[in-house]
Amino acid sequence: MVDKRLRTALGIYPRETLPSERCGKLMPLPREGVSWIEVLRELRTILRSQPTHFTGFVGSMTTVPHPLAKQVFLEFSELNANDIATFRAIRVLEEEAVSMMGEILGCSSCTGMITSGGSEANIAALYLAREHGYETVYASPVAHDSVFKAARILRMRVVRVPHTSFRIDVQMLEKALRENGPGVIVATVGTTGFGTIDPVEEVCKLARSYGCVVHVDAAFGGFVAPFIYRGRRLCFENSAVVSATMDPHKLGLAPIPCGGLIVRDERWFEPLVFEARYMPEGRQIGLLGTRSAGSIAAAWAMLKHMGWRGYEAQARILMDRALRLVNLCRSIGIEPVVEPEVPVVCLAIERDNEALEFARRKGLYLYKCGLARGVRVVIGPHVDEGTIELIARVLKLFTSRS
Ligand SMILES: Cc1ncc(COP(=O)(O)O)c(C=O)c1O
Repeated sequence: MVDKRLRTALGIYPRETLPSERCGKLMPLPREGVSWIEVLRELRTILRSQPTHFTGFVGSMTTVPHPLAKQVFLEFSELNANDIATFRAIRVLEEEAVSMMGEILGCSSCTGMITSGGSEANIAALYLAREHGYETVYASPVAHDSVFKAARILRMRVVRVPHTSFRIDVQMLEKALRENGPGVIVATVGTTGFGTIDPVEEVCKLARSYGCVVHVDAAFGGFVAPFIYRGRRLCFENSAVVSATMDPHKLGLAPIPCGGLIVRDERWFEPLVFEARYMPEGRQIGLLGTRSAGSIAAAWAMLKHMGWRGYEAQARILMDRALRLVNLCRSIGIEPVVEPEVPVVCLAIERDNEALEFARRKGLYLYKCGLARGVRVVIGPHVDEGTIELIARVLKLFTSRS
């Protein structure tokens, strides 16, 4: 399979094109309903025109969901997890899933909830901090955009702390804390653009000295870093950490939408419990209303099925592959912008937009790094050795042409 891919490296992953009637025109509501078969036929044509993880979609932090997770997602999808009185067992599953993720992040009695993704978890986490009186957000520009989105929605003040090598600069953080007072500091374990890890322990020490709390965004790195860097206190092992984001729909292998907000204790979580007068329980949790139990069942199933050993093995394999990509690219003259600590590789390519377009024409869907010029590859389980070779070859072709 790999050889075939390499043989066809210049025309890899051809997709079907969309039928011309679907381009540039929105379909009106049909007067009479269309048959089941006809609907499926049309939708499948659309689906075949889209890239998939197995056919070159290597820029996203999501991956191919595990078949077990897809199955239970469907089986549970029609139950409303926010009808807590009727579907009490679902809340128990949710608490178990959250507690298992908490364990990975160094917490023995965490609570929290399954969210639609990392953005919702980050928004909810900063909302909690604000409700507990921490109204200033300290974050480096390497933090995920959802942190700044959250601050904007919540009208929280943002203090941007410079970074060093794509990690929050602790000296600059201390200076900022001295000048701006208490707040919530966001530390990222596995940055979106560069795969770096903020110095969480040092951040937490400063947090304690300056009366702050810390939210750890481990949306991507949560399923990798704790397994690889066993000696490092990356999250709840530090008492200043009050909450964390960790997404099963990234390397947890659950289907979209499935994020996780892990909170140190019930008291901190309390502001996310809202009155819902028409519901049997009289209350709902989280920023949304109706929530599919499918996401909860999928996260629970994956945590139980993979276990510590399964995720640990996956983390090591993905990290090895990421380093293989780094070495391969180095051997052809393309340097990583920074050595990654989780399997996200930002490769320094000055004309990044053109490189993306070039790769896209070959069927490879890469993303940009954001803060530095370069193209980003996220090594999920779907990015095998052959695909890594292919990425290096396509980028080599681009750089040697330009
Ligand atoms: C570190 C980090 N936090 C948060 C998010 C947002 O996650 P989502 O896209 O699931 O909302 C991402 C997404 O890439 C991320 O990398």
